[in-house]
Amino acid sequence: MKNLYIETYGCQMNVADSEVVAAILSENYTVTTDPKSADLFLMNTCSVRDNAEQRIRKRLRELAALKKKNPRMIVGLLGCMAERLKERLLNEEHTLDFIAGPDAYRTLPHLIQEASEGKSAFNVILSIQETYDDIDPVRYDSNGVSAFISIMRGCNNFCTYCVVPYTRGRERSRDPKTILHEAQQLLDKGYKEVTLLGQNVNSYHWKEDDGRAIDFASLIEMVAQLSPKLRVRFATSHPKDISDSLIEKIANYENICNYIHLPVQSGSDRMLKKMNRVYDGNYYLERIAAIKKMIPDCSITTDLIVGFCGETEEDHQDTLKMMETVGYSSAYMFKYSVREGTKAAKDFEDDVPEEVKARRFDEVMNTQQRLSLESNQQDVGKTFTVLVEGFSKRSEEQLFGRNSQNKVIVFPKGNHQIGDYVEVTVTRCTQATLIAD
Ligand code: 5AD
Ligand code: SF4
Repeated sequence: MKNLYIETYGCQMNVADSEVVAAILSENYTVTTDPKSADLFLMNTCSVRDNAEQRIRKRLRELAALKKKNPRMIVGLLGCMAERLKERLLNEEHTLDFIAGPDAYRTLPHLIQEASEGKSAFNVILSIQETYDDIDPVRYDSNGVSAFISIMRGCNNFCTYCVVPYTRGRERSRDPKTILHEAQQLLDKGYKEVTLLGQNVNSYHWKEDDGRAIDFASLIEMVAQLSPKLRVRFATSHPKDISDSLIEKIANYENICNYIHLPVQSGSDRMLKKMNRVYDGNYYLERIAAIKKMIPDCSITTDLIVGFCGETEEDHQDTLKMMETVGYSSAYMFKYSVREGTKAAKDFEDDVPEEVKARRFDEVMNTQQRLSLESNQQDVGKTFTVLVEGFSKRSEEQLFGRNSQNKVIVFPKGNHQIGDYVEVTVTRCTQATLIAD
C-alpha cells in the first residue's frame, strides 16, 4: 500500500468529498497524517472567495520544496478550484501533476496512472447524475462520534455573487435508500450524530419508481427514525425552501437538532434582489417567526456578505438591523469578493471601496460578537444534553461537546467519555463557549 495525504479546504461538502476520494483510492492507498511520507498529495480546494484560492496557491508553492526532497510524490488538485480554472492551472502551477473536478473522482486511479507516466492529466467534466451514492466513505479524520452524509450535490440557485453553480454543476439528489444505509452503518459502528449535507438541502427531492416523492422533510424524518440515540443535523438551507413541514419535523423529533443555519446574506431588499436571493427581508423574518414559534429554543445562525456591488450605508444599516431582529447565535461574515464568470462579475461594478468594506465588516463583526455573547448569556443556568466530542483544547481534565443548539459546551471530565450523552448545567460563558458543571 502507498501513502495518501489529503488537505481539505472550504466547506463541509469538501470534507465529505475527501472521504469519498479516500474510499475510491483505498485499494492502493492508506491515508497518512504525515505529508512527508506521502506518495500521493491531494488538495481538495475551494473557490468561493479569492482569498481561499490565494491561500491554496501559496501552499502549492510551499509544496515545491517537499517535492524536491521526494521527487516520486504525485501532487493532485481536486474540487472547486480545479473546476473553475481547468487545465490552465496545470500551466500556472508547476508543482501540480494532475487536476480533477468534483464529479470526476471515480477517474482518479486513471488520472494518477497518467500523471505518474508524465502525461498531462485532468478531468473536469461535470455530471448531471453523479452522487457517489454507492461509495462507502473512509472516515479517516473522524472522532468516531459525528459524521457527514452527503445527500445532494450541486446548486441551481445562481445567486449572482456565487461561483458554486459553475464549480459544482447542477443540483441532483441521492437515492434515499443509500442515505439510510449509510446512516445505519454509522450507527452500527457507534456513531451518535450525522449531518446531512448539501449546497441546499431543503430542495432535496427524489422520485421512487412507484411515483412516490420524497422531499427533505420526509428524508430527515426517516433518518431520525433509525434511532432516538442518533442526533441529526443538516446544512445548508436556503430561506426560500425552509418549509413548515420541515420545521414541524425538527420540532417533533427530539433527536433532530434545534439548530438551523439560514444564510440571509444581506438585510437590504435592494441587495437581496441584486443577489438573486428570491426573498425579501419580510419573507425571511416571517420564516424566522415560524421557526421561533414552533421551536422556541431553536438557535439560528447565518452567513452575511458585506460590501456587495452598490451597497449603500442604508443597505448596510438594514443588515445590522436584520442581525439585531433575528438575534443570531453566530454568523459567518465575509467581504464581497468578485468571482469571474458570475452574473455580478459580468453586470455589476465592485464599487464599494476596500476601506469601506473593511469598516462595514468590523461593524457587522462587532454586532455579531455582542449578539453571540447575549445569546450565550441567556443559556447560563440552563441544563442541556451534550454529546461529547473530545477533550477541551485547554485541559485534559475538561471535555467538550455540543448541545442540540450546536453550541460548544466545556465541562469537567468526571467519568464521562467521548460519545456519551451528558446532562450539564451552564454556569458561565464567553462569546464563543458555554462553560458548565
Ligand atoms: N464573496 C463573498 N462571500 C461569498 N460567499 C459566496 N460567494 C461569495 C463571494 N463571491 C459566502 C456566502 C455563502 C458562503 C458559503 O460564502 O455568504 O453563504
Ligand atoms: Fe468552496 Fe463553495 Fe466549493 Fe464548498 S462548494 S468548496 S464553499 S466553492
